[in-house]
Amino acid sequence: MAMPLGFKISAAVILLLTLLVNIRKPSDLAVGAWIPAEIVSFLWWATGVTKLDSLDADAIVAVQQRVAALTPRGAAVHVDAVTHMTVPSGDGYDIPAVLYHPNSTARALNEQLMVTVYLHGGGWVLGSAASVDAVARALAVQTNGLVLSVDYRMAPRHPFPTPVDDGVAVVRWALKHAASVGGDPRRVAVAGDSAGGNLGAAVALSLAGPRLLVEAGAWRSPLCAAVLVSPPLSHAYAARNAGSHARYAHRYLLLRRVMVAMWSVYLAGPRPDPERVAVTGRDWRASPLEAPAWRLRALPPTLLPYAAAEILADEIEDFAAAAAATGARGVALRRYERTVHGFFTSGAPEARECVTFAAGFLRDHCAR
Ligand SMILES: *[C@@H]1O[C@H](CO)[C@@H](O)[C@H](O)[C@H]1NC(C)=O
Repeated sequence: MAMPLGFKISAAVILLLTLLVNIRKPSDLAVGAWIPAEIVSFLWWATGVTKLDSLDADAIVAVQQRVAALTPRGAAVHVDAVTHMTVPSGDGYDIPAVLYHPNSTARALNEQLMVTVYLHGGGWVLGSAASVDAVARALAVQTNGLVLSVDYRMAPRHPFPTPVDDGVAVVRWALKHAASVGGDPRRVAVAGDSAGGNLGAAVALSLAGPRLLVEAGAWRSPLCAAVLVSPPLSHAYAARNAGSHARYAHRYLLLRRVMVAMWSVYLAGPRPDPERVAVTGRDWRASPLEAPAWRLRALPPTLLPYAAAEILADEIEDFAAAAAATGARGVALRRYERTVHGFFTSGAPEARECVTFAAGFLRDHCAR
């Protein structure tokens, strides 16, 4: 954590003041959700995340480094093997990924395990495979499957659609080549939290087709399942400032200001042009809620866990309803009442319950 001392001291003072001002705990939140959320809200400001959309690329990279230094690492459960590898992208880049293998017995028996491709969160700008190490390990152990956690390229240097393209490339690789690392290419799922859930949705929708077969009900996704935790799914909802976006705009970790800034940098790069943000934001690969009905219908069984007190609640609920209305089967909402955005990777009791539930969902839908 290379921070100047002056910064540390003023950060500590402002943090204390923030906590004193906000000392009344909202009755709908658990303490374990409320206090970290208020601290992170403060850190967004202290590290520069709230003004991401007014910075140039170098300054955003500096913000990325500050946030990475402050991101806690969860307690890691043991897995049999952790391998760093790369997967080729369509444009000649080697996408780094971390492969978690949970079971030496299965490996010794040459038994193929299911594969979950995991896409980390962080608003398409922050985060890394390392930042979700604890969740990736827990999913590997609890699914008795491989987890391939992807360091997809991110904004500001690689705005939309590169992060989606990298996600698609890794999933397509797994569907073809999983056997080369001990995985079962017929049992590949995608999972992700926050922006990673948005990318997971875009990846699953990208694999849909051909349209006539989907509409005739004669097509199944090559993915056995998707788990999309608290995903942003519509740029229009973030831009509109209504419903859950208005209700939780200034509280509980994912501030509306932060979400809007992240969307802008994702959609149009550093110092984003508002016109371009608006146009790109309507692309369904950026805003999966805008996907045509036939693509929604082609989703694999999809679990959508989310927090009741998060700005994204409305778009997540509307996405599930829109998908179900097209005839997509197995789309399931799971609402966590007393927690906030980001709970999945927090190590809190809700997180442990959710990881276990998600692993059960993956196991059930990806059984041999
Ligand atoms: C590991 O793989 C073996 C062989 O398939 C299986 O019997 C065992 O249940 C697996 N272990 C766990 C913890 O799932």
